[in-house]
Amino acid sequence: MGKWYEAAKKRVSVRKYSDGASRDEILELKDVANYLSTDEVRIVVGKKDGIFNALIGKTISGTDTFAAVISREGDNDYMVGSVGEAFVLECTAMGYGTCWLGLSYNKALANSFIRLDDDEKIRCLISVGHYVIEPAHKRTRKTIYNLTGLEDHAFRQLPDWQKCAIECGRLAPSARNAQPWEFDVLNDSLQVACVSKNFGYGGIDCGIAMLHLEIGAAHCGVYGDWQIEDRLPLFTVNYRSES
Ligand SMILES: Cc1cc2nc3c(=O)[nH]c(=O)nc-3n(C[C@H](O)[C@H](O)[C@H](O)COP(=O)(O)O)c2cc1C
Repeated sequence: MGKWYEAAKKRVSVRKYSDGASRDEILELKDVANYLSTDEVRIVVGKKDGIFNALIGKTISGTDTFAAVISREGDNDYMVGSVGEAFVLECTAMGYGTCWLGLSYNKALANSFIRLDDDEKIRCLISVGHYVIEPAHKRTRKTIYNLTGLEDHAFRQLPDWQKCAIECGRLAPSARNAQPWEFDVLNDSLQVACVSKNFGYGGIDCGIAMLHLEIGAAHCGVYGDWQIEDRLPLFTVNYRSES
């Protein structure tokens, strides 16, 4: 998770690329996709001309390389977000630019090009490619106070792992940068409240933030599990290596 922590700090959405992945690079990306895929959510990597010719949203240019995040029917939005973001962060660590795409791709083409089981659906595409220039880190995010309700002095008094987790969670990407989450600080745990449906992407956004929280906690030597309590994701510590 160490390299994902560095990647989370570095990653920004890239919409303009110099080129897509080469054949050898595609093979490497497919290995990453296979490694991260689960029974419920899988990632398919490919190349297709015109895949990013979208009707809506800012367009992607300079690459034809995509990763499709596909899920089975069911309540698995958090998993879609976490698995997709793990792929994004691994790509960042490998030196690629990426952008999550809920709308800005050619859905008809993607659905005809990618083979799906009857109970599967493409949830998002992720564009992948080489940077034109490595992007500067210009991100607007909600303040810690907006996210947690904690004033500066109260936040500073939290255990290191909770601060690391929240700071990393704060960097998570979300559709329209809506950041539809709040982080509740509890004793030896953190709860994520998903506060908006965000046009159908709210659950995926929260899954992305959950992975970021976990990566931040791990950076400070704390590992835990996610459970759903009162319909909200709760991260509880089960192991710490901090002194
Ligand atoms: C689930 C999801 C869907 C997204 N869909 C699109 C999209 O269709 N078009 C687009 O240009 N950006 C899309 N984005 C990228 C967000 O706009 C971007 O992550 C957000 O503005 C934060 O900026 P950053 O990624 O540079 O930190 C999406 C992001 C997420 C997480």
